[in-house]
Amino acid sequence: MKTAIVTGITGQDGAYLAQYLLNKNVRVIGAFRRGAERTSWRLKYLGIDKDIEPLEFELSEFAQIFKAIKDIKPDYFYNLGAMSFVGTSFDQPLYTQEVNYLGALRVLESIRLAELETRFYQASTSEMFGEVKTIPQNELTPFHPRSPYGVSKLAAHWASINYRESYGMHCSNGILFNHESPLRGDEFVTKKIVSCFFQISQNNIDFFELGNLDAKRDWGYAKDYVEGMEMITNLDKPDDFVIATNKTNTIRYFCELAANEFGYNIAWKGKGVEEIGFDSKTNKTLIRVNPKFYRPAEVDILIGCYDKIKKVAGWKPKTSLEDLVSLMCSEEIKLNNFFNTNKVN
Ligand code: NAP
Ligand code: GDD
Repeated sequence: MKTAIVTGITGQDGAYLAQYLLNKNVRVIGAFRRGAERTSWRLKYLGIDKDIEPLEFELSEFAQIFKAIKDIKPDYFYNLGAMSFVGTSFDQPLYTQEVNYLGALRVLESIRLAELETRFYQASTSEMFGEVKTIPQNELTPFHPRSPYGVSKLAAHWASINYRESYGMHCSNGILFNHESPLRGDEFVTKKIVSCFFQISQNNIDFFELGNLDAKRDWGYAKDYVEGMEMITNLDKPDDFVIATNKTNTIRYFCELAANEFGYNIAWKGKGVEEIGFDSKTNKTLIRVNPKFYRPAEVDILIGCYDKIKKVAGWKPKTSLEDLVSLMCSEEIKLNNFFNTNKVN
């Protein structure tokens, strides 16, 4: 039985990857940082909280990381833990580097010092393309990050390549474009939109506020994407791969799709901060723009070409944006019931 350490086990991808690895009969050691409570609601929701071996693990603590890796000698190390919210990275640029870049470096250095054959996976990101130089973006597209988060992830990306080239370590980077699911964190735009339409449908709120409606993202389904992570680490040759859908859409379009799922028909009027989204059946305003959600520098468009991973490993996306939105909206109701009946954090 192979052993994998997964950092970020309490996050969206950590939960789905753990579920996928367990189904492949891999022993999963879930690296979590200390918090007031120990259970992750995501692991509990997926029904796998008892199947994962917990490991207290802080990406800013070298000694703890080194000891864990030296003692466990994992076959795989999936580094998904990160300060992952782009907006917050502008307010916490030093902490973001500390965890996202230096955290990855600590893990790499630990594997090297412990002289292990551990296969390392780094959660790289389309944010590294930032102000994009080609459309679509692929593994050869030059990087131009536009946030402290993007900068930190690019540094970690290069560190991973550097350990591969310098020490022959099995280090791979998955350059993942935005991927969403019912388990997505509340602050990310897709989950925020879905949750707010649900709250409107329950008469708990009248409307909600967003920032830039024109940004375009290549959105896929997280459950499809973790399969790509597992494929990448099982290739003989470590390498870097884009995982994406090769389709891009605006935040505005995502709103329209989610609104439909809850029985609203969104139309738009006004421009810039004056723009509103209203239900054309009732004329009620459901969406307003608030500049507080704008970013100091924006990534306007992301669209990824996944030809390389398709050719090398046979991976391709299975879920359309329309199906993804539909599944997020229907699961939102189930999630609400879950939170009403479980005491989880
Ligand atoms: P997420 O839901 O925000 O989860 C982030 C995880 O990192 C959480 O488990 C969090 O633990 C953990 N973490 C944060 N700081 C840590 C620290 N100092 N030490 C140890 N663990 C720490 O993120 P996700 O969407 O699953 O994304 C997984 C990874 O892929 C991240 O590295 C992200 O940057 C990257 N990525 C994501 C996407 C995407 O669209 N989702 C795209 C490209 C790349 P707590 O629960 O304690 O906060
Ligand atoms: N979060 C948020 N909240 N974003 C908003 C809002 C809002 O109210 N209104 C508009 N947006 C726009 C943002 O300006 C951005 O252009 C887009 O929606 C997507 O924002 P997020 O969902 O926060 O995701 P992200 O693209 O910044 O970052 C996510 O994807 C990256 C991959 O490209 C994160 O998961 C990162 O960790 C990941 O690396």
